[in-house]
Amino acid sequence: MVRKVLLLLAISLLALVLMAAAYVYKESKSEAVAFMNEPRYELGEHQGAEVCGTCHEELYAEWRTYSRHAVSTSAESVLDVMEELEEHTILNFILGGRNMCYACHGPEAPNEGVNCETCHGVAPSDVPIMETHETKYKPGRERMQGAEFCAECHEIPGFVTPYGDWLQSEAAVQGLTCQACHMGATDSGHAYHGFDSFVMNESLYEGDLSVDDIRFDFPTLDLTIENHISGHSVPAGGPTRILALELSYRDVEGNEVHRDMETFAKYHSLVPVLGFWPAKIIADTQLKSGEQRQLSFSLPPELEGKIAKIQLVLRFYEVADEHEGNLENAYHVSRPILEEEVHVPDRTLAASHLISERAAVPQTLR
Ligand code: HEC
Ligand code: HEC
Ligand code: HEC
Ligand code: HEC
Ligand code: HEC
Repeated sequence: MVRKVLLLLAISLLALVLMAAAYVYKESKSEAVAFMNEPRYELGEHQGAEVCGTCHEELYAEWRTYSRHAVSTSAESVLDVMEELEEHTILNFILGGRNMCYACHGPEAPNEGVNCETCHGVAPSDVPIMETHETKYKPGRERMQGAEFCAECHEIPGFVTPYGDWLQSEAAVQGLTCQACHMGATDSGHAYHGFDSFVMNESLYEGDLSVDDIRFDFPTLDLTIENHISGHSVPAGGPTRILALELSYRDVEGNEVHRDMETFAKYHSLVPVLGFWPAKIIADTQLKSGEQRQLSFSLPPELEGKIAKIQLVLRFYEVADEHEGNLENAYHVSRPILEEEVHVPDRTLAASHLISERAAVPQTLR
């Protein structure tokens, strides 16, 4: 009883403190928000990607056209989350507002996302460009060749861990860095393929994931799913990326009589009280680098004799953090990245890799 009273007191006290903080914050909100939303470097202090593009035409075109880096401050999904966070006044204040995002997503004012200068270093507009090459870009390249360089933005320990995965991977043993895979696959290597790439529909994950050894013996469906990427888990991102294997059981007329699903993701809880922003990882079912996972699905007994065909689809979902892995609230659902069909009478695979019109990912990206 005493404990309950104390708990209630503590909660009321916390509420009071939060209300006071919200009041103070509201009073100074416009100033604070203006300060927090300041870009990391002012427009004019740097040259911008277009200038680099006057000489590095191909690299510029590749970055501009395909790379997700080029839209990391302008993409609708990013702006949505920024706005939503701003509605959670106190949390936004604690986190430091948009400036916190810009630390990795790039500055706002030029609105160029992660541009040439974010990675290679700012080229001051009052210094001749080739001088900047000599003093900054040439010596800077060595630092940019290690996986640690990508980890500066791509690793949020516990949540988003391609670097942590990589450290323990087969690729690391072979000396294959992030750059070796992600930048060696295309001509000049600045497209950075991934789930969100603009090239997503043409070449994502072809051959990177496979579903094999499919066996149906009523009431059980057995199969093996494999992540052929030797560098990190799939998805490589955090809890907002979900890979799903969807099963649709159909009768002779083609009507769906049963559905099942297995997801591969990191699941998290939310910060208590605030109800927004991940607090801690509570389950991790991502496919580890090189992992082969056996899965078994079971049908209800009343469906015996009714299943004529089983369709398997593998695809990606993107959800917001506060949706805690709820696929119904997905921002984005990818096209199938793998489709298979099992015909029941002969229990064999009718067709594998039905999606064949896509270009293959270059062999180096493995
Ligand atoms: C006037 C043309 C020109 C512009 C503009 C230009 N570059 Fe270059 N850049 C070059 C040339 C030429 C080389 C090759 C130098 C060499 O091989 O020694 C080069 C090489 C580089 C390299 C490799 C570094 C090295 O020397 O090993 C980087 C990185 C680079 N540029 C980045 C940039 C960025 C970022 C910008 C925009 C801020 C930019 N460049 C703008 C001409 C230009
Ligand atoms: C996400 C970070 C990132 C961004 C954004 C980026 N680069 Fe690079 N760039 C790298 C890395 C890493 C290397 C490889 C370093 C090495 O191996 O020397 C590289 C290499 C280069 C090179 C030398 C090798 C080559 O392919 O000729 C040039 C030139 C270059 N970048 C220019 C640019 C330009 C121009 C832009 C903008 C259009 C740009 N980069 C955007 C990370 C980046
Ligand atoms: C300055 C921070 C920063 C650095 C350094 C950086 N990235 Fe990124 N990268 C990002 C951000 C932010 C995004 C997501 C942009 C978005 O979708 O809004 C991204 C997106 C990507 C994507 C696409 C992901 C997807 O799901 O489609 C790949 C692949 C990628 N980066 C690889 C790399 C590699 C490899 C390196 C090292 C050479 C690197 N990045 C360095 C910030 C960075
Ligand atoms: C052995 C090769 C290899 C290495 C090493 C590697 N990757 Fe990847 N990565 C891939 C492949 C293949 C994909 C799938 C991309 C596709 O199909 O377009 C991928 C996807 C990604 C994605 C986007 C997909 C997702 O699931 O969200 C990110 C981000 C990424 N890698 C970051 C990194 C970083 C950071 C490193 C270094 C710490 C790294 N990768 C090292 C091969 C590699
Ligand atoms: C520590 C670096 C870092 C910080 C800080 C960060 N991000 Fe990101 N964010 C990334 C990287 C890297 C990716 C790409 C992840 C991938 O594809 O695996 C990403 C991806 C995203 C995506 C998914 C983009 C898409 O593809 O649709 C959204 C949305 C996003 N970030 C919003 C935000 C917002 C809003 C903030 C600030 C509150 C923020 N991020 C802060 C590094 C960061």
